[in-house]
Amino acid sequence: MTGFYSLMIRSAPVNLSARASAIGESATLRVTRRAAELRAQGVAVVDLGAGEPDFSSPPVAVEAARRALAEGFTRYTPGSGLPALRTAVADSYRRHHGAPWQAADSVITVGGKTALFELALAVFDHGQEVVLPSPYWVTFPEQIRFAGARPVMVPTCGEDGFQIHAGPLIEAVTERTRAILVNSPCNPTGGVISAPDLRQLVAFAAGRGLLVIADETYERFVYGGPHASAAALAAEFPDTVVLVGSFSKTYAMTGWRIGYLLGPAPVVKAVENIQSHATSNPTSFAMVGALEALLHAEPEVEEMLAEYRARREMLVPLLNDIPGFRCRPPEGAFYAFPDVSACFRPGRADSIALAEYLLEEAGVATVPGAAFGAAAHLRLSFACSRATLAEGLERIAAALAR
Ligand SMILES: Cc1ncc(COP(=O)(O)O)c(C=O)c1O
Repeated sequence: MTGFYSLMIRSAPVNLSARASAIGESATLRVTRRAAELRAQGVAVVDLGAGEPDFSSPPVAVEAARRALAEGFTRYTPGSGLPALRTAVADSYRRHHGAPWQAADSVITVGGKTALFELALAVFDHGQEVVLPSPYWVTFPEQIRFAGARPVMVPTCGEDGFQIHAGPLIEAVTERTRAILVNSPCNPTGGVISAPDLRQLVAFAAGRGLLVIADETYERFVYGGPHASAAALAAEFPDTVVLVGSFSKTYAMTGWRIGYLLGPAPVVKAVENIQSHATSNPTSFAMVGALEALLHAEPEVEEMLAEYRARREMLVPLLNDIPGFRCRPPEGAFYAFPDVSACFRPGRADSIALAEYLLEEAGVATVPGAAFGAAAHLRLSFACSRATLAEGLERIAAALAR
């Protein structure tokens, strides 16, 4: 296209919706993008920013998906996902936690993120509030606001390992509250909720007609004791518990984009309806791979978990050796979340400036705590090899000593 028309088209104003104007790029994805830009310029970036396992997806999953593709399993599936996968997911929570859920109580989604997004659209209304612990995963407040509701952050405390306590969450509930959102283990802090606190919270919510949304994406990544799953309370409080899970982290299957949601029938139905107009089904052959992973990849999962544990043991002392860094071992997930405020200086005076300094000067990608509502902290992922961790920390220490 040339001349008059192309000029006219280029100069036409682009009007975004108020919704889109209010939403920013995910801070974690922004770091990944900037790190990729530097790599493209030839900089050898050490990536401690990405919340993405460095392992290959389980071979059984890859082989099953490959076979499904070769056999032409490439058409639409039922919108809520493959019946066999829904059954296997529900079975798994029944077997491990005594949950009452059947296949019909589940929806398979395009990653856990889409489950949370569709859920927000299904259950939050304008003027309502959603109570959640802070620091929080960057996506939660954005999704809550996108759905028209207001996130109400309740601080957790680094001194006790960012444990999630029922009391302060309950105190933040008002007549406008619609749900309490608990992400245990937590991204970015690794903080967890204990089984008694979770019970107290769910029982309280049930008495008030609220939902407890349990994002258990990191359910397998616990270092101090068994994971307290909201699924264990679903039989007693079937109208209260909504559980979101994912294949991304447990099975190193981030790119496959398979997650799920389980919960009360009206919530599941509403999410199914929204999904039917949004994504339709998740990718057919990816679901075949996810099913195979769930049924047959436990040995690989155990192996990966042992390695995460070893990385955590290596990383935390190294972090505490860096002057100005203070880090407790995370209870769960695969992130260290040190308080780094003691090394703020002019030019790197807050977590954002410090993370930029480390990326530009040391070639190490981290995520500023400010993105998660914790300006004194940095998030470093240990979903990377021990050699990468050692190299990254060496570079950080050297850059901060300058
Ligand atoms: C706390 C939390 N919930 C949910 C997700 C969603 O993961 P996915 O959409 O890959 O299943 C993530 C991913 O980083 C996460 O950290």
